[in-house]
Amino acid sequence: MKIVFATGNPNKVREINSILGDAVEIIGLKDINCTEEIPETQGTIQGNALQKARYVKEHYGYDCFSEDTGLEIDALGGEPGVDTAFYAGPAKDADANMAKALANLKDKTNRGAQFRTVIALILNGKEHLFEGICRGEIAHERVGEGGFGYDPIFIPDGYEQTFAQMEAAAKNAISHRGKATEQLKAFLAKI
Ligand code: IMP
Repeated sequence: MKIVFATGNPNKVREINSILGDAVEIIGLKDINCTEEIPETQGTIQGNALQKARYVKEHYGYDCFSEDTGLEIDALGGEPGVDTAFYAGPAKDADANMAKALANLKDKTNRGAQFRTVIALILNGKEHLFEGICRGEIAHERVGEGGFGYDPIFIPDGYEQTFAQMEAAAKNAISHRGKATEQLKAFLAKI
């Protein structure tokens, strides 16, 4: 089976591809000549995931899936949430985003947090949503070189390493994106 994945983020493609395996061939946005930035203006993770998938369906006609992810920090009332990519400004700079999260948590003892991923699938005229949550805590400093985004400051529950210190397969096995993608995979396998 072939399906368009509505993302410009190669890290997401790599992680999701390795979970879906040979059963599904992902077609990228460039392959359908979609090179513009897809709007994400809905104010919720779920809304943005749906918006991206609907955009591709409406403008390019393809069945597709998209995903949106947010980091929700307990002591910050769920921030940055839907603003995770732009937390420190429009540049979407991972270092600046992590620095802001660490600074905002400086005096907090509760460092609990979670990543939330919502995958929106449009297939055969119907919309489907799959959600994955990974709980953990925010480290006191950046540790590790792997992964992307906020991985160097996120320690998943039950582990002492950050996502950035883990092998890709180990992260996928427990991550928000991994959990949402496993649901997508099971759904597609039934079709
Ligand atoms: P978006 O889903 O592309 O809007 O990404 C939201 C923000 O979360 C970006 O700053 C990403 O770098 C970050 N992000 C998404 N997934 C992960 C992850 O698995 N680990 C760490 N950061 C992530």
